[in-house]
Amino acid sequence: MSNTVFYNDGVHKNVLLEDFGSGGIAVQANQHLIIHGNEGIILDPGGHKVYSKALSESYSLLGNSKLRYIFFSHQDPDIVAAMNGWLMTTDAEAYISKLWVRFVPHFGLDHILSERLKPIPDEGMFLELDGIKLMILPAHFLHSTGNFHLYDPVSKILYSGDLGASLGMDYLQVSNFDDHIQYMAGFHKRYMASNAALKAWANMVRNLDIDIIAPQHGAYFQGKDMVNQFIDWCHDFQCGIDLITDLYKIPST
Ligand SMILES: [Fe+2]
Ligand SMILES: [Fe+2]
Repeated sequence: MSNTVFYNDGVHKNVLLEDFGSGGIAVQANQHLIIHGNEGIILDPGGHKVYSKALSESYSLLGNSKLRYIFFSHQDPDIVAAMNGWLMTTDAEAYISKLWVRFVPHFGLDHILSERLKPIPDEGMFLELDGIKLMILPAHFLHSTGNFHLYDPVSKILYSGDLGASLGMDYLQVSNFDDHIQYMAGFHKRYMASNAALKAWANMVRNLDIDIIAPQHGAYFQGKDMVNQFIDWCHDFQCGIDLITDLYKIPST
């Protein structure tokens, strides 16, 4: 599989990097790169198994542009484990929820690099990328307590982290939403916190003009109809603490 270019107008480019494969039991993960003019941002760059390939592919796509930011949607190892390498080999600033700034350095962040790890406030923020503004949107409890999505207003892509993740199918783009639910439902029931969080998220993102929703695992949703089907599904989906209270029992064996 090669890189997938979502958008390219000559100045602005959105690329889903080739799947370098995590191998073994490591979950498949997507790495996304956005380049605008002379600057770029890598989203959820992943762990050690994909680090060297994702880094060299990013450099080759960036060309003369420089990596300005690293965005971490949340604190999981499939996202931040190779943080030290990314900060060491680039001049980029890394952004993560303020809730995780003191915790992720346990993955092994050199003291000298730690000042380039920046907190995102709970309300979200904008990141300026060579003159355009990328929107960092609150998506707390979906699944992490301090969790953000990134919306690119140029390409109209919403990068949704673990929300929309799918596992086990062999395609990259969702073509039949109802058939695709089987690859998402189990993960969302157990990893997403509650329908209240999903409803709040759905009501927020309905205000955006979205062409693609691109999760960190599995297939992406393209086109208004597909995007709306996914948002509607989230709005009504029961998950997490809506379902799990029966499990709070002392194990019998
Ligand atoms: Fe996660
Ligand atoms: Fe993930």
